[in-house]
Amino acid sequence: MVVLVTGANGQLGQAIQSIVGNYPSVDFVFCSSVELNITDKSNCEAVFEKYKPQFCINAAAYTAVDIAESEPEKAFVINVTGAQNLAEVCKTHDTILLHVSTDFVFDGLATQPYSEEAIPNPTGVYGVTKLQGEQAIQNTWEKHFIIRTSWVYSQFANNFMKTMLRLASERDSLSVVSDQIGTPTNAIDLAETLVKIIQYCHAELVSASNYGIYNFSNEGQCSWYDFAKEIFKVNNISINLQPISTSSYPTPAKRPAYSVLDKSKIRSVFGIKIKNWEASLASISS
Ligand SMILES: NC(=O)c1ccc[n+]([C@@H]2O[C@H](COP(=O)([O-])OP(=O)(O)OC[C@H]3O[C@@H](n4cnc5c(N)ncnc54)[C@H](OP(=O)(O)O)[C@@H]3O)[C@@H](O)[C@H]2O)c1
Repeated sequence: MVVLVTGANGQLGQAIQSIVGNYPSVDFVFCSSVELNITDKSNCEAVFEKYKPQFCINAAAYTAVDIAESEPEKAFVINVTGAQNLAEVCKTHDTILLHVSTDFVFDGLATQPYSEEAIPNPTGVYGVTKLQGEQAIQNTWEKHFIIRTSWVYSQFANNFMKTMLRLASERDSLSVVSDQIGTPTNAIDLAETLVKIIQYCHAELVSASNYGIYNFSNEGQCSWYDFAKEIFKVNNISINLQPISTSSYPTPAKRPAYSVLDKSKIRSVFGIKIKNWEASLASISS
């Protein structure tokens, strides 16, 4: 079984690379943005022709949430045209596409976890392009899984946890927003979940009705302030950490105030067991 992974040098791409040893029967092909530029359809076709993957994990994306506000065309071409290109080549090769999307497709006005059926209403360019990417895939190729996730962190690439650890090494005090609520996701847990879905399909357990959108994050919920506090706790870092409001920390892109995802669908369809976010954070910090 050949699994092609795009965006191999990004956070999720590196997390998937780190778990391949757990799956010796899977032949992973990792492509960086240089080897496979998803915005270039002929490049996609050539790579698919070469490797003939049964599965493609699209871990490639434009993820600069704030910069996207000033370069929407760049975000669009990667998150929408790129997703469209992959859906088209997957259709040609009968490849099952696993595409990663985001809690930022929601406006954050909900007061209970978002299900897969909740109506998206993104508040910024990044969220808009991620939603349009989902729609491009849905309109092109039925054999897809769109996995919406949130607040992804790991020891790889750039993410909130690494930023907090860096800032703690440079400063004595730090202020972090406490009025945006969501759930951290360990990139390794997300990587394992993607491979479990692939194994489920490979075992021919999948039916047409299983394709579609799924939510995945760790369990529980917290604010960015709570997340930072826990990062410092598990790493034994002493720092003066202060909660602040979103209004005191303006950013170019408006973020959802609440983006907790309801994971009951992925748990029940694929039997995925999901770790609590604090336990998963502790597992990579120890
Ligand atoms: N990080 C989060 O908190 C978060 C939250 C929710 C959802 N997500 C979603 O999770 C997925 C993985 O995110 P991540 O944290 O791993 O992002 P990341 O670290 O920014 O990695 C994205 C990767 O995409 C690659 N890429 C960009 N343009 C490309 C192109 N035209 N062709 C091929 N590759 C290209 C980048 O390569 P270069 O470095 O060479 O440009 C980079 O390696 C994304 O779909 C993202 O939207 C992330």
